[in-house]
Amino acid sequence: MTLRLYIPIDAGALAVGAEEVAAAIRAAAARQAVALDIVRTGSRGLYWLEPMVEAQTPAGRIAYGPVAADDAEGLLRAIATDGPHPLRLGRTDDLPWLKRQTRLTFARCGVVDPRSLADYRAHDGCRGLARALSLGPEATVEAVVQSGLRGRGGAGFPTGIKWRTAAQTQAPQKYIVCNADEGDSGTFADRMIMEGDPFVLIEGMAIAGIAVGATKGYVYIRSEYPHAAATMEAAIAAARQGGLLGDRVGDSSFAFDMEVRVGAGAYVCGEETSLLDSLEGKRGLVRAKPPLPAHKGLFGRPTVVNNVLSFAAVPLILDKGAAFYRDFGMGKSRGTMPIQLAGNIKHGGLFETAFGITLGELVDDVGGGTRSGRPVRAVQVGGPLGAYFPRALFDTPFDYEAFAAREGLIGHGGIVVFDDTVDMAKQARFAMEFCAIESCGKCTPCRIGSTRGMEVIDRIIRNENRAANTALLEDLCHTLKFGSLCALGGFTPYPVMSALTYFPEDFGAPPRLQAAE
Ligand SMILES: Cc1cc2nc3c(=O)[nH]c(=O)nc-3n(C[C@H](O)[C@H](O)[C@H](O)COP(=O)(O)O)c2cc1C
Ligand code: SF4
Repeated sequence: MTLRLYIPIDAGALAVGAEEVAAAIRAAAARQAVALDIVRTGSRGLYWLEPMVEAQTPAGRIAYGPVAADDAEGLLRAIATDGPHPLRLGRTDDLPWLKRQTRLTFARCGVVDPRSLADYRAHDGCRGLARALSLGPEATVEAVVQSGLRGRGGAGFPTGIKWRTAAQTQAPQKYIVCNADEGDSGTFADRMIMEGDPFVLIEGMAIAGIAVGATKGYVYIRSEYPHAAATMEAAIAAARQGGLLGDRVGDSSFAFDMEVRVGAGAYVCGEETSLLDSLEGKRGLVRAKPPLPAHKGLFGRPTVVNNVLSFAAVPLILDKGAAFYRDFGMGKSRGTMPIQLAGNIKHGGLFETAFGITLGELVDDVGGGTRSGRPVRAVQVGGPLGAYFPRALFDTPFDYEAFAAREGLIGHGGIVVFDDTVDMAKQARFAMEFCAIESCGKCTPCRIGSTRGMEVIDRIIRNENRAANTALLEDLCHTLKFGSLCALGGFTPYPVMSALTYFPEDFGAPPRLQAAE
């Protein structure tokens, strides 16, 4: 009998030795004369247990982790004989961390062979496309509108409305662009999808193409993601071969094809108009809006720009219906959010759940607190432009509006945890420094203001005219917030002001009264 094992080929798992583990298990199998079939998958997203090896058994997949190359011999023997092993975690589907999630977008990640279209189809793949083809473009756009899906890249703009705008704009050529620049600190969900379930992204983009009348798509991937780019390339080739892309998508009269483009590495190239400049071969510079990309985008043509996770949510929306997706979530935040737990956290990884879970639940309960074992002092949600929230705000539900009401953002769903050794004045200074380094330079508040901001924070830290300099910093943040062309300058005040507001003692001021929070 052939033993089937699943070992991730995801970059996060490779970074902690998944390749060495696979090689050691192969060698052990040769020594033990065990017939072995290893399927390389994406990650399940329980990164503290990577490399996690799963074995196919009559009772389902059994997980083991974190596995080291040295464990191979004993592990293989235990798996082959169904014996005990100290790294045995139990049935993968029963792992509490996975069980309490609602995996809609990530349903196949870690399960399927990411390079096999047949495996994708065998796990409900291509059903959304079939539905879109039977509905036709207008009803497909309407389904996405009705689902309540909002862009997962950061701004949270309703995806269906964007598609409708592009669909209603007449042009001889339109484009679909996938934003896979994933520049936010502590985020990796886009990468996981591209490495673990690339066909869902291809299917989502093909549906978008049919819906708005675009025949060409691009996936703009950051250069730091070579594994994701290689997997996407392989999947696109397989999709062409299998009729998911090409002149007759899914055997229909619609044509859609796509290709991968690798970015040169700038945070601002994740901003959609800057990304379009970069795709056109120029330096990434933010464009003034209007015109919206949906009217005049890539090469001046109507273009839908969406994040990886937005496109990846679409096949399921079409397959199960808008109401099914819409049923999850709270308020105007519908569906599920793939949340990424990172930084100083015990259980870091991908946790997909309906909107509405509180920040405290995510950090303390799901994440298990800090990895260092020290108290959690602050979390930054939503990337480098997101606010720092203290424990006092841990009752905030994960919801676009709830975070905005507290001068924060959920962005791309990244949460970076800090323990009580963090110096929040340094973090505030870093936010200004980041803005100065990454600024595209187009507008003054961001280009100049960020450098002045660093200088002012330095003076506050040195206790030079603290009151006057704090007032100056607040004034500068106001100018950045309301005078910047894009969110890089516009949101940099969030981390700065939240640090100053909630952690004044790190700036040499008296601590904030707990009662006031
Ligand atoms: C400085 C900056 C960086 C951004 N980086 C990204 C990014 O890495 N990935 C992304 O999807 N969106 C990013 N965005 C948001 C995009 O401009 C845009 O809103 C998004 O790609 C639209 O897709 P969505 O509606 O599906 O979220 C960034 C925005 C700004 C201002
Ligand atoms: S805010 Fe900064 S990054 Fe954005 S357009 Fe202005 S200078 Fe460029």
